[in-house]
Amino acid sequence: EVIEAAGQVLLPGFVDLHTHLREPGREDTETIESGSSAAALGGYTAVFAMANTSPVADSVVITDHVWRRGQEVGLVDVHPVGAVTVGLEGKQLAEMATMASGIGKVKMFSDDGHCVYDPLIMRRALEYSSALGVLIAQHAEEPRLTVGAVAHEGPTAARLGLAGWPRAAEESIVARDALLARDAGARVHICHASTAGTVELMKWARGQGISITAEVTPHHLLLDDSRLETYDAVNRVNPPLREPSDIAALRQGLADGVIDCVATDHAPHAEQDKCCEFSAARPGMLGLETALAIVAQTMVATGLLDWRGVARVMSERPAEIVGLSDQGRPIAVGEPANLTLVDPDREWTVRAPELASIAQNSPFDAMTFGARVTTTLLRGRVTVRDGKVRA
Ligand code: NCD
Ligand code: ZN
Ligand code: ZN
Ligand code: ZN
Repeated sequence: EVIEAAGQVLLPGFVDLHTHLREPGREDTETIESGSSAAALGGYTAVFAMANTSPVADSVVITDHVWRRGQEVGLVDVHPVGAVTVGLEGKQLAEMATMASGIGKVKMFSDDGHCVYDPLIMRRALEYSSALGVLIAQHAEEPRLTVGAVAHEGPTAARLGLAGWPRAAEESIVARDALLARDAGARVHICHASTAGTVELMKWARGQGISITAEVTPHHLLLDDSRLETYDAVNRVNPPLREPSDIAALRQGLADGVIDCVATDHAPHAEQDKCCEFSAARPGMLGLETALAIVAQTMVATGLLDWRGVARVMSERPAEIVGLSDQGRPIAVGEPANLTLVDPDREWTVRAPELASIAQNSPFDAMTFGARVTTTLLRGRVTVRDGKVRA
């Protein structure tokens, strides 16, 4: 098979450290199969399926199912993320070693299934993770500051009458877990960094020699809180869309490597969970199929990153952070061919109903972008060609 690539950019297959597939529990919004299609179309060869499924992925039964189902579908490696704790109180550590040694070989544990309120539990999880050689991902919200909250404390939220979601909800947890990671001699990864303050804290923590990494989502690189004016619940997301000054700091942080990588936080939701009042709608937005286009617009077209830099933030760094040895590698003879071809001059308009996800909650619906993934290869096998999934 000959693939015509004139004028296109060849990149290592993308790795997403933060994807919500809704299997098990909400297969009406996304399945491992539909989500794998969306991922492959987005140029991904590996995704990390977050733990907040129903039931929560806090046991090897679920994490092994997720991995096996992903391999059956065969479009992308679906790595299961385990929950840090079991039970709603978040007081007891999950059997991380069992999940790590299962078929699904869990490499990352997150607190998004059950929140870790208790710093002592987080400290223990970090100590345990370093003994096991796995990564703890902090979902970065202080729940007691965010319960019932939908937007931030900025002027737009105040004017619109939306409850506050203070930056301190994120930043206090980033600071807490940086210090806990330091004392535990462990690594910690910050999910969906959204504030200028988090970028500053990352610089500070790195300066202290703390092993901390962070991701930013495409929507936090592009969309600001002026989108809330319409009260359209498609814009409701955790953490909330913030102000242009935060966006500028996140872009610069990503360009400088203070923020390590882009992760989608792809979060499918059913129409009925998004059509209600803004404050009652479920938070989250689709992200897999549009991520590259947004990175191209916000980072490449602005001169903040070149395509080499895109390879770093979409593939190499996330693979390194989580310890995936067969992904995110430089393209060289003998390497597994996990490859993505991007047409850097392909104008296209997002049509939410045409996306591969079952749910349609894309805030980018009807927006036009200038770059698009055309082809994806997983270990030498074509999974996407000319923007279409290969069965
Ligand atoms: C995520 C979801 O829907 O699972 N929602 C979101 O707004 N990001 C959960 C999360 O990552 O907070
Ligand atoms: Zn949490
Ligand atoms: Zn989250
Ligand atoms: Zn998430």
